Parts: sequence; structure tokens; C-alpha cells
Amino acid sequence: LNNGLARTPQMGEARWNSWNFFACNINETVIKETADALISTGLADLGYVYVNIDDCWSSVTRDSKGQLVPDPKTFPSGIKALADYIHGKGLKLGIYSDAGAFTCQVRPGSLFHENDDASLFSSWGVDYLKYDNCFNLGIKPEKRYPPMRDALNATGRTILYSLCEWGVDDPALWAGKIGNSWRTTDDINDTWASMTTIADLNDKWASYAGPGGWNDPDMLEVGNGGMSYQEYRCHFSIWALMKAPLLIGCDVRNMTAETFEIISNEEVLAVNQDSLGVQGRKVYETGTDGCLQVWAGPLSGHRVAVVLWNRCSNAATIIAGWAALGLESSTRVSVRDLWKVRKIDHTKMFLRMLWHHLVLELTATTVRCIFSLLRQSLAQQFSLG
Ligand code: DGJ
Repeated sequence: LNNGLARTPQMGEARWNSWNFFACNINETVIKETADALISTGLADLGYVYVNIDDCWSSVTRDSKGQLVPDPKTFPSGIKALADYIHGKGLKLGIYSDAGAFTCQVRPGSLFHENDDASLFSSWGVDYLKYDNCFNLGIKPEKRYPPMRDALNATGRTILYSLCEWGVDDPALWAGKIGNSWRTTDDINDTWASMTTIADLNDKWASYAGPGGWNDPDMLEVGNGGMSYQEYRCHFSIWALMKAPLLIGCDVRNMTAETFEIISNEEVLAVNQDSLGVQGRKVYETGTDGCLQVWAGPLSGHRVAVVLWNRCSNAATIIAGWAALGLESSTRVSVRDLWKVRKIDHTKMFLRMLWHHLVLELTATTVRCIFSLLRQSLAQQFSLG
């Protein structure tokens, strides 16, 4: 959607969302404390500036004038006061509604109330809308999502529009003119199986992503406890490489040092936010059921981001050939490991690069993912013009 927003995947513009950890157990204190924590941890400075409230903020019925009302028990001060608090910290507020009769947790939906609800959100100072797909009356998402885009545009306030249609009707094919991002799959859960399946499904739509409109493989589970440190690092690496909107989904008020280390890796974040805006993809797979994988994508400045991903149950060597990375066979590069797991031995690298392969050994039990950045040598950049 060309509304000037999400030129990079909602990160410089990235966000926190309440759903994956809190589900319906939210209230204005949790949201305020989250905003405070984004500031005090430094995450806000790294680009996590949206604080997004998911389902359950609203009362179960509209008021006598037909307006949505915040739940008086959990949000007694109202959303405007919350928006003021969040803006006062230099952050932005996201809210949630549904392109149906009700939200998934059976609060009033916005279908056929688009103009009223968009004006209300705008009057509260909302900066972002996640728009869900429950109780949709069997109407196609292609019909239900554009009216809210138009209603948001008509408010005159710039509001990032995030479609949550769960991949129904292949949104990559039609949502580019409707929203700033669209979900490509069902909900993620906090398991390796869910995360890997979703990565593969989202990969299919890579060519449709770009500045202003991104494939959304759902929010991050990093820090919620269901995967190991190594597995979360893969999750974050692949989401960053796929130019997914990066939405922290854990309780940032109580995160471990390991969780913080993953979500605050500046070089990995920079890959996600790269100005070229090209979604990286799975470029090579081998091993049993394709469990040894190379994912890669071009970046600005003659660089290529590469994730070597071992999904097998044993240690393995993964070889990324230059052709799979989209490089001419004569290309010389320098290499960095963005997780700094290992020092890359440049003497050895040079020898290996003579063979035009990036070779890294991964021990599945200790390291499941290596995220490397290749920079083409200066001479090469000039010769490429
Ligand atoms: C379904 C969405 O896909 C989730 O992300 C979350 O918003 C829930 N609905 C809330 O009910």
C-alpha cells in the first residue's frame, strides 16, 4: 500500500504485540510497562517503536451511539490516554480490530463500521491497525479489507495497515494495494515445527514483497520458552532475512539476557531493514527431506545475506555455492558471521572462496543457524559498475 509507511518491514517501524505472550490477559498497566521497558532496555532505540494492543481491549458491546468502547475494567483510562502516554515516550500505538462481525475473542468487529471505527482510532491517535479475519460472514477477504483501507485514508492520519487474513485467498496476489503487510499463514505457535513450516510457506510468496507491502509470517515467539536458544536464533535470522515485520511477542518486562541478545542484534536487524527491501529465500536444500538449507538474499551495497540452516538432527557441513547465492563464479568477497559464533578465518576463507563456495560446519545440537554477510570486494564492485 502506497501510504508512505512500511518502506522497510515495520521495524524502524518494528513493534511489540501483546498476543503471543499475554493473549487476553492485557490491561493498560501491562501496555504502559511494556512501553517503559522498550525504552529502558534500549529496544526502542534499535527501532522497536510500535506498541501494539491485540484482541480483548474492547468491551463486548458497542455503546448506545454504536461506538467501540475500551473495556472499562482493563482500560479504565481509555485508549486516548494510553496513546498520549506512548507518544510522550516517542513511541507509537497500534490497535486491533476484525474484518468481521466479531473479533476472534468475540468483541465487536469493524465490518460495516469501517468509517466510524477508523475515525475513532484516528481521534485516539492510533498509528497502526492490525485487522483480523474471524466471523467474516463468508465474504471474501478481497472484499472485506479494502473498505478499512479507504476509511483509514479518509481520516487524514497516517495509520499503518496490517492485514491479518491468515493467508486466505493467497493475499500476496491482491493485498499489495490494500495493506502494508499481509499474513501468509495461520497462527504461529511457540514450537520448532510451527516455525519451520511457516518459514517454508512464507517463502513461496517472496517475489511479491517490497517497500510498502510485506509478507507477514506472523509474530515472533523468541523468548516465550518453547524453543531453545539456538532455535530462536534461527527463527529470528530467517524472519529478518525474509523481510518479515519483526514483532516481538514476549514479555519484554521480564526477558532473559539470551532473548535480549537475539532480538537486539543490530547487524541482523540491519539486514531486515536494508533499503533494497528484497525478501531473502531458500536457495538450496539437500540432505534427508531437504534438512540442510541455504537461504539468501541480496542487500544494498553489493552485499548478500546468507543463512546456513541445519534442520537435520545431526551435525553437518553446509556448502553454499556461488551460483545458488546469485554470484558470478569469479566474485571475491569478505565474510562476516552476524551471530559472531565463530571467527571467520580469512586465510581459510580465501582458499575456500577460490573454489567459489562458502563452507561452514554446523553442529546441530549446538548451532543450528549461521547468519553471514558477504560483501563483494571493492574491485568487483567497480567492475560490476
Ligand atoms: C487470530 C490472529 O491471527 C492472532 O494473531 C491474534 O490476533 C488472535 N486472532 C486474536 O484473537
